[in-house]
Amino acid sequence: MSASHGSANASFHAIEWHHQSLRLLDQRVLPHEHKVHEYTTASAVADAIRDMVVRGAPAIGIAAAYGYALDALAGRDLQAAYKVLAESRPTAVNLFWALERMAGIGSDDPHALVAEARRIHEEDIAANLAMGQFGASVIGENAVIYTHCNTGALATGGHGTALGVIRSAYADNKVTQVYAGETRPWLQGARLTAWELMQDNIPVSLVCDGAAAQLFKREKVDWVIVGADRITANGDVANKIGTYSLAVLAKHHGINVMVVAPTTTFDPSLASGDDIPIEQRPQEEVTSLFGHPVAPAGCKAINPSFDVTPAGLIDVIATEKGLIMQPDAESVALLLAR
Ligand code: MRU
Repeated sequence: MSASHGSANASFHAIEWHHQSLRLLDQRVLPHEHKVHEYTTASAVADAIRDMVVRGAPAIGIAAAYGYALDALAGRDLQAAYKVLAESRPTAVNLFWALERMAGIGSDDPHALVAEARRIHEEDIAANLAMGQFGASVIGENAVIYTHCNTGALATGGHGTALGVIRSAYADNKVTQVYAGETRPWLQGARLTAWELMQDNIPVSLVCDGAAAQLFKREKVDWVIVGADRITANGDVANKIGTYSLAVLAKHHGINVMVVAPTTTFDPSLASGDDIPIEQRPQEEVTSLFGHPVAPAGCKAINPSFDVTPAGLIDVIATEKGLIMQPDAESVALLLAR
């Protein structure tokens, strides 16, 4: 199965089921190196998720589903596979949703489980294309869009969430300029988003995260469009660290904020964003860059990988089921019940 449809002319597969193994494009070394690794066990897939060979909420859910199927193929203990995969990263609920769906098959038949993982993958691509259309429908002409992290074909089954809306709106001739925040410390914006947009010839300029306020004040920016790792019952959104700052800045400057996520990213079991577990990643991601120290030896750092944007700062959430305008507990519940 060829898996990742970045766009009509996508040149890469972020996640690919190949015969009886899983192939992942190593996102740690993009865009300058293209390495593909092959996986045959759930525990190796869990390591790949933890180390961010594969990243982005929907993508790690898909990878976990395939990881679970790999252990079924090898006749290994599926409860252990579930556990090791569930412990890989804590914030994106898509991971747990995908594992629940795999376990819900209620069988250790490898053929049924591989088929279910493939369905999860294909459904995510379809959801991305639908969200792209819904999200693009509210964007006006000559739009200038600021985005954060990477939410494209690399982070999903294909097309992308926020980047999918940008792709769809660009195809509708509505987008004149995209700004990609570099997204320290892991540089998803600089390394991955700029790369994906440039491959599609969508005009993109990279921005240091700290430059957003000045950009919002001085230049025309119509939308901040981002993805999500978990959306709670009241519409609060956990996403890449820095998203909350952008939403506050957008509110101050009268810029619209759109969150784009499939319904697999919603966690109605949590009342608000205060309950979302926030991943703390190693200090070294902050104190060094590509293995080179940038801070004094022994310098301490904190590295929360996600933050929570309150629903009140969000104008619209685009999902594959439709749009939630001015999200709150009622509008979220109504959409999920569709
Ligand atoms: O740490 P990452 O790179 O996995 O974080 C990814 C994000 O925060 C994305 O914005 C989110 O998963 C939505 S992507 C479709």
